[in-house]
Amino acid sequence: MIRIAIVLGSTRPSRLGKAVADWVYSRARERTDARFDFLDVADFDLPLLDEPVPPSRGQYHHEHTRNWARAVEQFDGYIFVTGEYNHSIPAALKNALDYLYKEWNNKAAAFVSYGSAGGIRAVEQLRAVAGELQLADVRAQAALPFAAEFENYRTFKPSEGAEKVLPVLFDQVVAWAGALKVLRPELDQSGDEDPGARPNLSA
Ligand SMILES: Cc1cc2nc3c(=O)[nH]c(=O)nc-3n(C[C@H](O)[C@H](O)[C@H](O)COP(=O)(O)O)c2cc1C
Repeated sequence: MIRIAIVLGSTRPSRLGKAVADWVYSRARERTDARFDFLDVADFDLPLLDEPVPPSRGQYHHEHTRNWARAVEQFDGYIFVTGEYNHSIPAALKNALDYLYKEWNNKAAAFVSYGSAGGIRAVEQLRAVAGELQLADVRAQAALPFAAEFENYRTFKPSEGAEKVLPVLFDQVVAWAGALKVLRPELDQSGDEDPGARPNLSA
């Protein structure tokens, strides 16, 4: 079974991101083509990156890093739910991404964003970060402008358009998450064999 994490990247008290992530999670759980779980960056209490060795070397010295790595590595793809801070992504999300490397590699990513302009500037930057982490970003994106999707700019009320884009986003991230499994040979050693999820490259 393909596993996708919905990653909530804002950690502020009173964050609007929780309502958005809850919506994504509730719609995702109606699907049967993948298993979806919720990963809240706030639960991991990550300090500003304090590992002495670059993450690409995979030598994690701190228990908080190993906890985060164990949580992230289980998944084949991610749906990042992000707000926009100063036209970029929240520092807490960037920090959480920076902590790890191979746990993100050769997996799929999709984005749900919110903000005055739907958070699109943040996601453009997030797509660049994803490339460096070897996370393949799908085209479909749910961009939720405050004026259209939040009552009084506070209470999240997803529109019909937002409801329509989400299944497309799920389709794309699940398809790529399955296709990319073939690039992660370590799955063969762990006994995770799901031939149906792998493309037949010899055909
Ligand atoms: C530090 C900071 C910078 C912000 N910069 C932007 C911005 O550039 N564009 C935008 O649309 N909203 C901006 N906002 C408003 C946020 O979109 C709004 O506070 C939103 O609720 C943030 O997501 P969160 O509640 O999940 O943390 C900013 C908010 C903060 C706290």
